[in-house]
Amino acid sequence: MIKIETCLTPEILHLHQLEGKIAVVTDVLRATSCMVAGLNAGVKSVIPVKKVEEALTYAAKGYVTAGERGGVKVEEFTIGNSPYEHMEEAYHGKSICMTTTNGTVAIDAARKSADQVVIGALLNVSSIGRYIKEQQKDVIIICAGWKGNPSLEDTLFAGALVDQLKDEVEITDDATYMALSQYQSAKNNLSEVIQNHASHAKRLSGLKAQNDLAFCATEDYCDVLPILNGDEITIK
Ligand code: MLT
Repeated sequence: MIKIETCLTPEILHLHQLEGKIAVVTDVLRATSCMVAGLNAGVKSVIPVKKVEEALTYAAKGYVTAGERGGVKVEEFTIGNSPYEHMEEAYHGKSICMTTTNGTVAIDAARKSADQVVIGALLNVSSIGRYIKEQQKDVIIICAGWKGNPSLEDTLFAGALVDQLKDEVEITDDATYMALSQYQSAKNNLSEVIQNHASHAKRLSGLKAQNDLAFCATEDYCDVLPILNGDEITIK
């Protein structure tokens, strides 16, 4: 049986073993939602980097750059961190180099030792579930959280994924069970729960990004499976 565990924040990733596992990295608000939505719309690939300076070296080579710090677009970048920007036709067929406060940090941590890194959001949760059933490998869900703290929306994603897999996986830690029960109590009004209670939703509302919240809370908007291959995330 597939074993599944959840790391609620990258700060405690050192307590988990990633070797041989599929790492599903999520940052529902908004990094991985942007990646999923952009790749689904036609973006060729996403190159996640940890630092703004690294992204600027890609900018100098002519790449589209995207991302934020503290939720606010980095001034020199082409676009910020709204999924609507990532879906724009201007970026179809292009590679986007992206850096964000938490999401790309979590991807960077996962890639160091996981067997595979797949990118999950509520937008593509069923595609991830199907892939895990196919692969029959142990899984760690890595939630990006916010600056070292767990976040409600990422925990809900973890619960949504485990809910799909619950008859086929062995839950090996309390965090996964906590995520599952949180999701089961919120699943009929996921968008409201996120908008009313997630601290990052409040932060983003202050930054006039309310439209992103309902979109990122949509389960199964699309059916794509973004996987990290070398330096690039592409659709499998
Ligand atoms: C992050 O990586 O922390 C987020 O994507 C921040 C944001 O909402 O822009």
